[in-house]
Amino acid sequence: VPFPSPRPRAWRATMLLFQLPDDVFYHILSYLDCRSLSRLSQVCKSFYRFVNRDAVWRKIAKEGLNTGITRDGTDRYPHIPLKERVKIAQNWCDGICKKAVPLKWKTKLLPWLQLDGDGEILFLSQAANIEAYYLRQDPGKLQSNPFKIYSANNGDVCHFVLTDSHLISGRSDGKILIHSRTSDMLVELSGHNQEVNCLDSKDGLIISGSRDRTVRIWTLTSSCPKETISMYDRVWSVAISPTLSSFVTGTACCNNFSPLRIWDVERLQCVCCLGSEFRRGAGVLDMVFESPFQLLSCGYDTFIRLWDLRLSPRKCVMEWEEPHDSTLYCIQTDGNHLIASGSSYYGVVRLWDKRQTECLQFFQLSSDSVSSPVYCLRFNSSHLYAALATSLHSLDFRQNPIYIR
Ligand SMILES: *[C@@H]1O[C@H](CO)[C@@H](O)[C@H](O)[C@H]1NC(C)=O
Repeated sequence: VPFPSPRPRAWRATMLLFQLPDDVFYHILSYLDCRSLSRLSQVCKSFYRFVNRDAVWRKIAKEGLNTGITRDGTDRYPHIPLKERVKIAQNWCDGICKKAVPLKWKTKLLPWLQLDGDGEILFLSQAANIEAYYLRQDPGKLQSNPFKIYSANNGDVCHFVLTDSHLISGRSDGKILIHSRTSDMLVELSGHNQEVNCLDSKDGLIISGSRDRTVRIWTLTSSCPKETISMYDRVWSVAISPTLSSFVTGTACCNNFSPLRIWDVERLQCVCCLGSEFRRGAGVLDMVFESPFQLLSCGYDTFIRLWDLRLSPRKCVMEWEEPHDSTLYCIQTDGNHLIASGSSYYGVVRLWDKRQTECLQFFQLSSDSVSSPVYCLRFNSSHLYAALATSLHSLDFRQNPIYIR
């Protein structure tokens, strides 16, 4: 039967497609890229509804940057439609975002920050205090006052971690403070005699590292250190493995030449050193476990490295070099393809796609005249926050990408 105009033909083809079983239709759609899916969704309401389903976007989302789908397929943000996240992922990839400076202060500090509840609350350390802000309304702005200040008459905060119940901070006077998040309880741990540069806590276990060249192991329930390990070198970073059976230390690499070492939590023995050819001074400043077997590290030698802890010997499987030869102060990952790093000059934040050796995007957050390191950065699926010496910056990636409607 000849069709009088293209419209009924398209309509008939549409009807035929809808007669296919759903799984066959999904299978066909799985061959389409974002742009085609996006066009298809504009054909009619039925297509729009079908194409917007998460199942259609899952494969694309797994390949995208920071979509919340991790390498093992876990979904970090099941409450947000995948199509929305694929849109935002495109912006991370293209570096399209809105920059803002939600907070500034006068004196130079060494701030640290953490996000809670997928970005609902921001905790920022300012000298001896840790301030908590809600980010709900407009994440580019903070309320003029924090809703809570965790204060203490102690040294400045060098580093802090957030658990469901506590806020644990390492201080410049060697103390560790444990603030309860639900009451005014405050516990002070003394042991270190110089600043506590780094700490990590998981499941009631606390590991701290200090300029005093020791690592101490504590529990949430006791105020004396369970153990002390002598490191013969200043300790800049620690990370507890997700399995809780080991932890990693990153040291200054001045008095021994393997700044990265894995320790057994029970036996307190060094299980192994990672890598061997580090230059003197190649201290490790930040580390993140991406899974029980994958560890990322960065520091003074300007490289981000990915270590595979399953291989024997455990070794570096990939590395990315800061192109301007600056120290890398901090890193974070999305658990899949994206790494964000903070450099030591001009507040430079870089985004890396692990599948490429070159940096994908970079943002210079401080002005040419006031150079500052990025002391800490954190991101969720749509926002990145970076703390510099006198300001907090936010990058909002929820902009309309050019071609996904
Ligand atoms: C990410 O954080 C921003 C504010 O910081 C928040 O508005 C947004 O909802 C968060 N996204 C997710 C997926 O939680």
